[in-house]
Amino acid sequence: MRKSLIPLALSGLAMTLTPALAGSGRTGILEQLQAEAGQAFSAERGKALFMARHKGGKPKTPSCTTCHSKSPLNAGRTRAGKRIAPMAVSKTSDRYSDPKKVAKWFRRNCRSVLGRECTPLEKGDFITFMMSR
Ligand code: HEC
Repeated sequence: MRKSLIPLALSGLAMTLTPALAGSGRTGILEQLQAEAGQAFSAERGKALFMARHKGGKPKTPSCTTCHSKSPLNAGRTRAGKRIAPMAVSKTSDRYSDPKKVAKWFRRNCRSVLGRECTPLEKGDFITFMMSR
């Protein structure tokens, strides 16, 4: 009787602590995406998404690499020629840390390249890939 109360007490404690432990910045963004995707992220799938030539978007932007360059370690260029800092977290440390910025650019760029919004799984895979580089 007494034993069975312990796990209950522990799970109650975990629930109380969750808001305080919920990550901010990049961790928080990934936790949110993880909850929505319900599946583990894969850097390999993120790489495939980044490198692929897609159909369905704008003809002039068939790939993420069109602007971000083929290597996450290198700077990219907008269509107007403006420099874009490297996408790899090892090169640009504040990448994927502002939820509003992340949401805005995924929305815009996935529409341009894929002709639709990216799924939570695709976003999580992409960030996971960029954290691995
Ligand atoms: C037309 C050019 C262009 C294409 C194509 C493009 N991007 Fe971007 N992307 C940008 C620009 C410009 C920024 C904002 C500048 C910056 O973050 O350095 C940006 C920023 C981002 C960010 C925000 C990064 C952060 O630090 O929060 C994400 C995420 C992103 N892009 C994902 C993608 C994905 C995924 C694709 C392919 C499906 C893609 N982009 C294709 C131009 C592009």
